[in-house]
Amino acid sequence: MCGIVAYIGHRQAYPVILKGLKRLEYRGYDSAGVAMLNNGLHVYKKKGKVAELEDLLTGKDMNSSIGIGHTRWATHGEPNDKNAHPHTSGDKKLTIVHNGIIENYLQIKKELIQRGHQFSGDTDTEVLIHFIEEIKKQNQCSTEEAIRVALKRVVGAYVIVVLDVDNPDTLIAARKGSPLVIGIGKGEHFLASDASPIVEYTKEVVFVNDYEMAIIKADELILKNSSNEIQTPYIQKLDIELAAIEKSGYDHFMLKEIFEQPQTIFDSLRGRLDAKGGTVILGGLREYTTSFESAQRIIIVACGTSWHAGLVAEYMFEELTRIPVEVEYASEFRYRNPVIREGDIIIAISQSGETADTLVAMESAKEKGAVIFGICNVVGSSISRTSHAGVYTHAGPEIGVASTKAFTAQLAVLCLMALKIGHEKGSIPHKRYLQLLHELEAIPEKVEETLKLNDAIKKMAEKYKNAHDFLYLGRGYNFPVALEGALKLKEISYIHAEGYAAAEMKHGPIALVDENLPVVFVATKDAYYEKIISNIQEVKARKGKVIVVVTQGDKNIPALADDVIEVPEADELVAPIINVIPLQLLAYHIGVLKGYDVDKPRNLAKSVTVE
Ligand code: M6R
Repeated sequence: MCGIVAYIGHRQAYPVILKGLKRLEYRGYDSAGVAMLNNGLHVYKKKGKVAELEDLLTGKDMNSSIGIGHTRWATHGEPNDKNAHPHTSGDKKLTIVHNGIIENYLQIKKELIQRGHQFSGDTDTEVLIHFIEEIKKQNQCSTEEAIRVALKRVVGAYVIVVLDVDNPDTLIAARKGSPLVIGIGKGEHFLASDASPIVEYTKEVVFVNDYEMAIIKADELILKNSSNEIQTPYIQKLDIELAAIEKSGYDHFMLKEIFEQPQTIFDSLRGRLDAKGGTVILGGLREYTTSFESAQRIIIVACGTSWHAGLVAEYMFEELTRIPVEVEYASEFRYRNPVIREGDIIIAISQSGETADTLVAMESAKEKGAVIFGICNVVGSSISRTSHAGVYTHAGPEIGVASTKAFTAQLAVLCLMALKIGHEKGSIPHKRYLQLLHELEAIPEKVEETLKLNDAIKKMAEKYKNAHDFLYLGRGYNFPVALEGALKLKEISYIHAEGYAAAEMKHGPIALVDENLPVVFVATKDAYYEKIISNIQEVKARKGKVIVVVTQGDKNIPALADDVIEVPEADELVAPIINVIPLQLLAYHIGVLKGYDVDKPRNLAKSVTVE
C-alpha cells in the first residue's frame, strides 16, 4: 500500500526521503513522488519505481531541509504520472501526500468544480488539497485550521502530510485509520508510514493516534486532538535494529525471512514457555484468562496468511480448550452484521496490524461488546492498539510481501495461548500439556533441520517450474498448511494453485488431475495418515505428479510419490510450523527461477490498508 516519508530538520531532506521511500518499497506501489521547498515549491513524481524517480531527479537542485515523499498504490485513478503524489492546490501553495481513501471525494469534487476548481488527475487526494485550499480561502484561516475543518467533513481513512509554501518551517500531519510514525531526532523530525525509514536515524518515536493532528517544526512537535486540544506525545523506543530491515547477504528478503525462522520462532516463545517448569507465561493474557476460560465461543478474524494461521488455531483451540471456534475472513465478517453474544471473544490476527478489513471487523465487534484480543507482529500498530489485550509475535520486521516468518510466529503464539487456556481450564490432561510444551520447545531446532532441505527443494522447483496449475492437499492440522502453500505459490510465481482439504478432492478438484498436474500433499504422521494415503493413491491412479511432505523415515508414501520431502517428526498439533517451511521454499525457488521479483510481487501490497 501507499507509503509516506517526510523530513524537517538540519539535513538535506531529499536523500533522507529517497532512502525512506526505498525502505517502504516492500509495501507495494506503482508510482512515487517528492516535494521540496527550494525557492518555491518543487514537485516531482513519476509512474514506476523509486529508482526511476531518482534517475529523473539526477542533476536537479534538490537543496531543501524540508520535504515530503510518497509511494502510491493506485486506488482512485490509474497508476500514471499525474495521479502520483504529491498533489498540489490550485494556487500551488499547498502540497499533500496521502495514504488511505476519501470515500466522499466525488461529492466534494463536485462542489469544488462549481467553485471553479480544476483538477489534473482522478485522485481523491487532489480533491482533498483543493478542499483545504478552498476552506482556507473562504474562512480566511490558517492552513492548520483549514485542514482540521476539511477532515471533519471527510469520510474514510487517511494519513496526510501537508507542506505549505507560506509556512516553510512546518509540516502538518493528521491520521485516521492509517498509520503514521514520527521519529524524534535532535533538531529534526522524520515522518513515515512505518518505522523502517526512521530506525537508522532515531529510536525515539511517537505513534500518532486516530483523529490527532501533528504540527511539526525542526525542534518542536505539537500534537492536537480533533477539538484542537494539545496532547502530550507518548514517546516510545523502537526495538528494531537496522540489520533487521536489510537483506544481510541474502538474495531476497523472503529467503532471509524463511531462514530466520528458527530464531523468530524461538523469539516468539522466549520468556513465555518453560517446558521443564511446566509453565506458559503470556503477560497479555493475564487479565483475560478467566474471560477465555468462560468463553462461549472464540471468533477469529483475519485475512490471507493470517487467516490460515487462524484455521490452524481453530484445530488447536478446539482440541485443547474445548471452546467452539469460528474462523472468519475479516472482509466478510465486517459487512455481515454477525451475531455477537455475551461471552464471545474475538481474536484478530495480523502481521502488519494495519489490515483495514481486520481492523474494522474488530472495531464493529468491539462496539457490540465483544472482548477483542489482538495477535500482531508490528508493535504499536493500529490493531494492537485497538485490542483490549493481546500478544505480540516478535518475528521482527517482515519485508517480503509473502508472509513467512510471521505465519510460523503466529502459530507458535496461538499454540502457547491454547495450551495456557486449556491448562488453566483443566481441559488438557496434564501429561499431554507437558508433552506439548516440550514439542513446542523443540520446534526451532526442527525448523533449522528442515531448512537443510533447501537445495533439494530448489532442484524440485526446477522440475516443476513450468507447470500451469498446482493442487495442494492436506487433512486436519495440515489442511490450512496446504492452503498456505498454495497461496505462497500463486503470490510469487503467478502459477495458479488451489489448496483443498484432501478428502474434498473427490467432490470436484479431482477432475483437474492428469499427467500435467503437480499435486503437493502434506502427509506427515498424524491421525489422518492412513486416509491421506488413499487420497495420494487416487491422484496417482489418474497420473497426477505427486509431491509429498512426509515424516522422516516414512516407509509407505515414498513408493507412491514422484518426489518426497522428509521433515522431522513432530506432534500433529505443532507440525504445521515445520510442514509449511518446504512449501515456502518451493514457492520461493519457483518464483526466482521464473525470474520474478519475489519480494515485491505484482499487484500485491504488504499491508492492505484499504478495504
Ligand atoms: O498484515 P496482515 O497479516 O493482516 O495481512 C493479511 C494479508 O494481507 C497477508 O497475509 C497476505 O495474504 C500476504 N501477502 C500473504 O503472504
